[in-house]
Amino acid sequence: MCIKESYNSWAEQYDSNKNKTRDLDIKSTIETLSRYNFKNVLELGCGTGKNTFWLLNKAERIIGLDFSTEMLKIAKEKVVSDKVEFKQSDLNKDWEIEDQFADLITSSLTLEHIEDLNHIFNQANQKLSENGLFFISELHPFKQYIGSKAKFKTENGVQELKVFIHHISDYVQSAEINGFSLVEIKEWFDEQSKREIPRLISFVFRKL
Ligand SMILES: C[S@@+](CC[C@H](N)C(=O)[O-])C[C@H]1O[C@@H](n2cnc3c(N)ncnc32)[C@H](O)[C@@H]1O
Repeated sequence: MCIKESYNSWAEQYDSNKNKTRDLDIKSTIETLSRYNFKNVLELGCGTGKNTFWLLNKAERIIGLDFSTEMLKIAKEKVVSDKVEFKQSDLNKDWEIEDQFADLITSSLTLEHIEDLNHIFNQANQKLSENGLFFISELHPFKQYIGSKAKFKTENGVQELKVFIHHISDYVQSAEINGFSLVEIKEWFDEQSKREIPRLISFVFRKL
């Protein structure tokens, strides 16, 4: 099953499944982005609108991009606001958004499904205004090294999704060659247990 079809199947249970990664991502998103000011947000892989809901507290305008019809359907039901627009689009193609639209781009738990990080940073640079921020929260590569990946239960067993491993240096180098500097990097652990492998990694990059 391709990534898009997998998310179409997962959509109905995505918000209610037991999912430590999704839940920790809410924490990493809120704790990090509470410290920044922003108005116009571009959300990559917005899914069911889990983070859109919180971003609405601070943003004046949000555009959420996602290629899954079913994930977007739930987002549109859940997040009803004049400030928010959801657009079906494939992040691997050029994003049909006005250049320099955003002062914040966010991407949560989406880049593990994207092979070419360079394309993402290149597009992000075009769509951000000067000094704009790019927040990324992802499954930590250490988790990926031991086989963790996005998955959900179906009637026929566990469905694993297609993923790509991105090392920490991949993010940093790709950001650098596309005109970003690293502002902050943080590792997020389950229940503050720093003896375990971190579950998530987050970055804030700034467009130079
Ligand atoms: C794990 S979900 C995360 C959703 C949301 N950001 C969150 O944190 O709950 C990943 C999302 O990325 C979307 N996605 C994956 N690859 C994509 C692509 N190439 N273009 C657009 N959306 C994509 C999926 O449809 C899915 O909604």
